[in-house]
Amino acid sequence: MYKIKAYSAASATSPLGRTTITRRDPTEHDVQMEILYCGICHSDLHQARNEWSGFMPTVYPCVPGHEIIGRVSKVGSAVSKFKAGDLAAVGCMVDSDGTCPECRAGFEQFCPSVIFTYNLPDKHLGGVTYGGYAESIVVDQRFVLRVPANLSLAGAAPLLCAGITTYSPLRYHKVGKGKKVGVVGLGGLGHMAVKIAHALGAHVVVFTTSPKKKEDALRLRADEIVISRNADEMQKHAGSFDFILDAVSADHDINAYINLLRRDGNLTLVGAPEKPLPVSAFALIMGRRSLSGSAIGGIAETQEMLDFCGQHNITADVEVIPIQKINEAYERMLKSDVKYRFSIDMASLKTE
Ligand SMILES: NC(=O)c1ccc[n+]([C@@H]2O[C@H](COP(=O)([O-])OP(=O)(O)OC[C@H]3O[C@@H](n4cnc5c(N)ncnc54)[C@H](OP(=O)(O)O)[C@@H]3O)[C@@H](O)[C@H]2O)c1
Ligand SMILES: [Zn+2]
Ligand SMILES: [Zn+2]
Repeated sequence: MYKIKAYSAASATSPLGRTTITRRDPTEHDVQMEILYCGICHSDLHQARNEWSGFMPTVYPCVPGHEIIGRVSKVGSAVSKFKAGDLAAVGCMVDSDGTCPECRAGFEQFCPSVIFTYNLPDKHLGGVTYGGYAESIVVDQRFVLRVPANLSLAGAAPLLCAGITTYSPLRYHKVGKGKKVGVVGLGGLGHMAVKIAHALGAHVVVFTTSPKKKEDALRLRADEIVISRNADEMQKHAGSFDFILDAVSADHDINAYINLLRRDGNLTLVGAPEKPLPVSAFALIMGRRSLSGSAIGGIAETQEMLDFCGQHNITADVEVIPIQKINEAYERMLKSDVKYRFSIDMASLKTE
């Protein structure tokens, strides 16, 4: 065991601050990496503030962070995929049983024994897992991913959650050429959805509550932008979408979007607001429309997404910050003032 610096929340209402945590010495199957960049996901904020208490109550202190890019510093004797000096990445999961039907089908995220990167039981050290707002991490090689060499590291970090969370449902719903796709909420997830859906060849429409993001949406390769608070603009698209991805982090009216689906269209929720969202039966039954959800993606699919982003030169648009600005970044994220993902330069933690 060894000690490192990290940033944690001590309670649901306290700001994040400097702390010391323990990591295990790498076992034979482990990869140890020095963390270079860690993206800030809205889930980090939900978890740090215990906003998901009904699903996964937060255990304090909580060290968030699951968009991790680093350099391998040490590997166990049975590790074949990585060696010291390699670039590597870790996303939202660090363990699963590997034997259940979900794991065997490549859906580790749905394994009854999945261990997320933070806030779930750490079978090695006791307590809970600690995430990427830290100097280093030790993870079983099954959950460590390869980073395409052509991608900028700060911009690639958010692919590990925002990238896979949008890539997976877009692929599952066969988004591509000839499909009209909506993306609701131009935040970290939303802007990745726009880039990936465009690369897949779809016609992409962004729904935003922030008129000032209009120019950006076009630059990100959206084909159309709708200001969702304008009922006339919304009405123009009634009954026309094959697929809508909803990446909103807070309470909002999903029926307004279900009504924009064509017959048999699907709206997939990836946003995970604190409170339940009411659904109008008529919005669904008229047109045989469907509503689903999606959670990140399995490990093989995450590698497929990273390779896809490497081929298409896709990274997140990031604002790189030192870890000392984390609390300010959280407040800005709540105000939808992120362009379009914060990525923490972890060198800032080393010098503190
Ligand atoms: N399913 C999964 O596996 C998964 C994975 C990662 C994250 N998530 C969840 O996905 C959600 C989005 O995460 P993120 O990191 O992309 O967050 P984010 O960067 O904060 O983006 C959220 C966007 O939602 C819109 N929004 C915010 N408040 C709103 C409101 N009151 N009404 C309407 N729109 C609003 C804003 O877009 P505009 O300014 O364009 O309106 C905002 O930029 C979070 O709930 C997060 O926990 C789920
Ligand atoms: Zn996330
Ligand atoms: Zn399993």
